Amino acid sequence: MTSAARILQVGAEIFPLIKTGGLGDVLGALPQALVRQGFDVRLLLPGYPALRQPLTDVQQVCTLGPAFGAASIEILLGRLPGIALPAYVIDAPSLYERAGNPYVDDQGKEWADNAARFGLLGWVAAHLGLGDIDRSWRAHLVHGHDWHAGLAATYLALHPQPRCRSVFTVHNLAFAGLFERELLPTLLLPEDSFGLDGIEFHGDGSMLKAGLQYADAITTVSPTYASEIRTPEFGCGLDGVIAQRAEQLHGILNGVDYEIWNPATDRQLEVRFDHKRIALKAAAKAALQKQLGLAVDPGALLIGVVSRLTQQKGIDLLLQALPALLADGAQLALLGSGDAILENGCRALATAAPSQVAVRFAYDEPLAHRIIGGSDVIAVPSRFEPCGLTQLYGLRYGTLPLVRRVGGLADTVIDADDASLTAGTATGFVFDAATPAALLLAARRAVALHRQSAGWQKVMKRAMAQDFSWDGAASHYAALYRELLAPST
Ligand code: ADP
Ligand code: GLC
Repeated sequence: MTSAARILQVGAEIFPLIKTGGLGDVLGALPQALVRQGFDVRLLLPGYPALRQPLTDVQQVCTLGPAFGAASIEILLGRLPGIALPAYVIDAPSLYERAGNPYVDDQGKEWADNAARFGLLGWVAAHLGLGDIDRSWRAHLVHGHDWHAGLAATYLALHPQPRCRSVFTVHNLAFAGLFERELLPTLLLPEDSFGLDGIEFHGDGSMLKAGLQYADAITTVSPTYASEIRTPEFGCGLDGVIAQRAEQLHGILNGVDYEIWNPATDRQLEVRFDHKRIALKAAAKAALQKQLGLAVDPGALLIGVVSRLTQQKGIDLLLQALPALLADGAQLALLGSGDAILENGCRALATAAPSQVAVRFAYDEPLAHRIIGGSDVIAVPSRFEPCGLTQLYGLRYGTLPLVRRVGGLADTVIDADDASLTAGTATGFVFDAATPAALLLAARRAVALHRQSAGWQKVMKRAMAQDFSWDGAASHYAALYRELLAPST
């Protein structure tokens, strides 16, 4: 191919404009890293107010509808602040113009029309690859992220002349994107797509399964998760489908945007530091302890958590191990929101020991940086973790990860056991069983190492030197795209 291959990146959130978790971070950074690999990359996003309003240099590319339950649909092309790539935004006010979260209302209930909202996203993506939405830019390859973009691959595969290749990335297999069979006509899907070897999942349609079934290649966000999801334990009922497509499945570890997550330049930190000025981290810790009302005690091991509070994240394991850790003198700084039972558990511990436990139930980007920057340890005790980003951020800030050996956590943290401490390769603390006891043992190893300042600093330096930049990840995607786009022999 002489000119750069045209790649469309499709997803439901993007940092810094709209983010609920790691997916937003990935869509905020990977597309730009792909430009550095030599591709002509554009984005396709739903026109929520957070994306429609700041769009500038707007061109109206195409008018559609009525379709997908919307009377009018405009496909716009423009620029978004903080994002260096051209973005197609779907302007369909009746589907996207509402306050709050992309997926749920302010009671946490899924928007009733999510199937139409994200079905349209997939349909527009496919037609940007078929060439009938924007005649001046036809995507050679459509790359959809998570169930929200799962139908893109399906519309392409069901088209008689699919002129475009597709990649589907699973960021989290636990979200199936279910919809009722009755919606097939609304989603412009044929009845015969609804079968066990199609998009059906236990009597409903699944946008996640649609992506898995029809994409030319499937990726997930770490090599270990790519192996795990072929098993019943992690497969969420889709392990059979995934095993059948094992040859098309690739595990590509996420990267970190070190422009945003860098302790030397991070404007959210009161005190900045780097591997050469490691002693300054103590001041960042003291500032965090003060801000959160914890005892300003340099000797207390400060454990940070920045997380959705869900079953996935294993926060219940941490809460059960916490009384013993507090007795050892440790502290907890937790930022998150989600499950009411977990929030209540956190609140009870904070009320009982306010100088040792501080919890904030909010989405707070500056505080996330301060906790990741100022804590000694970042805890990610997940039951499953496709990649996990906060442990990667922690590494760069010398905040040692305390993680369970699953998914991307297993791929990114080297346990500080005797061998790795001697070899100088240790970067954190890893445990195996999803039990409070296993977590406690690993956390106690952290408490003990923290008491030996020189040993702790050695591991910190090693952690800070790890390089998980996006360029490495993007080169793997680039190789995959080139393979898919190569003329077939
Ligand atoms: P997941 O995508 O499963 O939630 P990741 O570790 O991949 O987990 O990414 C989580 C992202 O969301 C990180 O950027 C983290 O800092 C951020 N985050 C999670 N909870 C909060 C919160 N309450 N406030 C601010 N940022 C948060
Ligand atoms: C998902 C996963 C998380 C991953 C993120 C970005 O939300 O839960 O492990 O890091 O997507 O890929």
